[in-house]
Amino acid sequence: MSLCEFRKYRCHQPQKLLILTMLCIVATVVVNYASDSCTLKDIQHNTDTARDHTCRDQFYELLSLRPNKQGELNCSQIIHGDSEAIKKALEINALTKKSRFHLNEQMFLNITRDCNYFKEFRRYVTIPMSKEEDDFPIAYSMVIHEKIEMFERLLRSIYAPQNIYCIHVDGSSSALFKEAVKAITSCFENVFVASKLEQVVYASWSRVQADFNCMEDLLKSNVQWKYLLNTCGTDFPLKTNAEIVRALLTLNGRNSMESERPSSGKQQRWKYHHEVSDHISRTSTEKVPPPIDSPMFTGNAYFVVSTDFVKYLYGEPRLQKFIDWAKDTYSPDEHLWATLNRMPGVPGSSPHNNKYDQTDMTAMARMVKWSYSEGNITNGAAYPICTGTHRRAVCVYGVGDLSWLIKQHHLFANKFDPEVDNIAIHCMEDYLRYKTFYRKDL
Ligand SMILES: *[C@@H]1O[C@H](CO)[C@@H](O)[C@H](O)[C@H]1NC(C)=O
Ligand SMILES: *[C@@H]1O[C@H](CO)[C@@H](O)[C@H](O)[C@H]1NC(C)=O
Ligand SMILES: *[C@@H]1O[C@H](CO)[C@@H](O)[C@H](O)[C@H]1NC(C)=O
Repeated sequence: MSLCEFRKYRCHQPQKLLILTMLCIVATVVVNYASDSCTLKDIQHNTDTARDHTCRDQFYELLSLRPNKQGELNCSQIIHGDSEAIKKALEINALTKKSRFHLNEQMFLNITRDCNYFKEFRRYVTIPMSKEEDDFPIAYSMVIHEKIEMFERLLRSIYAPQNIYCIHVDGSSSALFKEAVKAITSCFENVFVASKLEQVVYASWSRVQADFNCMEDLLKSNVQWKYLLNTCGTDFPLKTNAEIVRALLTLNGRNSMESERPSSGKQQRWKYHHEVSDHISRTSTEKVPPPIDSPMFTGNAYFVVSTDFVKYLYGEPRLQKFIDWAKDTYSPDEHLWATLNRMPGVPGSSPHNNKYDQTDMTAMARMVKWSYSEGNITNGAAYPICTGTHRRAVCVYGVGDLSWLIKQHHLFANKFDPEVDNIAIHCMEDYLRYKTFYRKDL
């Protein structure tokens, strides 16, 4: 192609022009049929030509995340709820629980010494998969404290070169963990550790501050990100980057998160002043009411918010007053974002009229299965019974949960843990990677 353009400037004589034009045609044909000439454009086209299929297949072969145990494990069957395949997966899980190969800090420190090797070995997708995605960068605030393998697998599953990732590592995580996270981030220009690290105390302000620290760093970056999503270390995506982009486009500038009327129990959380040491405790000192004109709402720690929402947090004195007021409340992550998202004038917010109330099931931020809402859907339960285990009343997903999970509209689900069910994560990886390349279900 460049040869052809080159010709336009160089050739003035008609005869030469004809010969060069023919050379160009020959060259183009040769280039197009040479099997090693697939370029980024071929992948991004996503058209139905034989050539595009060949190129896609070639890249997929290099980057597929299919489990090694071919034949024994069939993620396509597992993900569609085939009971025989699920039974088999559970047997393999039980057999390999003790001997499971897992990546530890030491290994990451070792393999990240050569970043190209690391990215190849771990099969990162390092090209934007479509123009639509390239034009719509997403920012992530990832708050983690342990389990390096789970973090790296989460990062790999949401990684795209046009996005930007801020990692908040807990101030009290081990030095080795911090070092390994640093080593992984140093292999990418668009992944970094937050410049300020909090020691996160359960249910205290520090959890919110961790996201604020990342927000501040992300606003300073050169990437023109459109939305900010936050994750913790036990989340895993249910959608590909392309699907996330399309979902965010449909929001049209709106934020998406749980925001509901607080129960009287939850209202106690901001009625009293709390003290924080290595844990949070309530005092008998009553707080003044929230310094806002609109009502309080409750939700969870997870949000999907627009760039304008994040910018607004830093520029508005009335919001600053409310944010400062929330600092000594119990679990402020579960009412701060939800309340801001229903305040008039806040970018992307919804009116505080109850027609706009969103539950965790109707918002798109996070799919969480609470034990007390599980059961038989026919008899009124919110979702089928968890097939993994429970941790603090939250389901840690098993292979049997996947077929239901992938039908949900949520962008992410919580919780996944390779020590509970590694095949569940492995099949999500396989499913998402296949869909990233072929835009259809495994
Ligand atoms: C997995 O199962 C699907 C559906 O039964 C089948 O089409 C596919 O060939 C199987 N894949 C492997 C690797 O066995
Ligand atoms: C470090 O990596 C090299 C290959 O890159 C390997 O031979 C060696 O065993 C690794 N060491 C550890 C401790 O994983
Ligand atoms: C759910 O309840 C209905 C009615 O009681 C019953 O027919 C069905 O088998 C139950 N489903 C499961 C998965 O237990």
